[in-house]
Amino acid sequence: MKNISLAIAAIASLTLVSCFDTAKPNYQYMPNMYEPVGYETYGEYGIFPNDQAAMLPAEGSIPRGWQPYDYKNTTADLELAKDELMNPLPVTEENLAKGKELYDIYCGVCHGDKGDGQGILMKNEVFLGIPSYADPGRKITDGGVYHVQMYGLNSMGSYASQTSEEERWQITHHVMNLKAALLGEPERVPMADVAEALSYLPSNDTEGEEGEEPHDEEHEDNNH
Ligand code: HEC
Repeated sequence: MKNISLAIAAIASLTLVSCFDTAKPNYQYMPNMYEPVGYETYGEYGIFPNDQAAMLPAEGSIPRGWQPYDYKNTTADLELAKDELMNPLPVTEENLAKGKELYDIYCGVCHGDKGDGQGILMKNEVFLGIPSYADPGRKITDGGVYHVQMYGLNSMGSYASQTSEEERWQITHHVMNLKAALLGEPERVPMADVAEALSYLPSNDTEGEEGEEPHDEEHEDNNH
């Protein structure tokens, strides 16, 4: 009895296995769960060139969140950017602080905390020829600083994939402040500070008195 049932089981499993063709899919009761109606990103479909669903984006496509940058990676366009490209970010405490933070992360190793070209990699002679931002021959402007972050310049690499557009402009504010400090020129200060400073000046509605006030002061000064 035991032997018979074993034999039956063996025959049954043999027949089941021999009927099952592994090269073909089994019954699919809800095929859309296995084969999506839409094209798979990397699927193979006859209607596409080379049967590939994955194709290059249409010419002129831009990734989400990416702002087109019109200047090309040429010396001529670097000069153009230096002359005409402006920093769109307002000078705020936040933008300056962020700019310094990012500069210290990405640029300081070569250009130095002060922007004098004396970063640790320069001192250790890993990189040479790193300029000071105060170098008069370089004509460092907002547009130029942004441009070299986009494309890099010779042995300096591009930062376009590591930083956002906003971050690059924040860094630019900081670089321009480093340049000003090196040259002993006035640095950019947050708008709020400017507004506060301006609030000490006589406002327009005291126009009538304005003419007189300075005179009074002058008299006082003369008297002393
Ligand atoms: C690996 C070292 C290195 C790092 C990091 C680096 N730079 Fe530079 N940078 C250089 C070198 C070298 C040059 C000079 C390139 C040349 O003129 O051939 C340069 C040149 C420049 C110039 C002058 C461009 C001009 O108009 O002549 C600016 C501005 C500048 N870098 C900004 C930055 C900023 C901003 C960062 C950080 C986002 C940065 N660099 C990171 C090495 C570096």
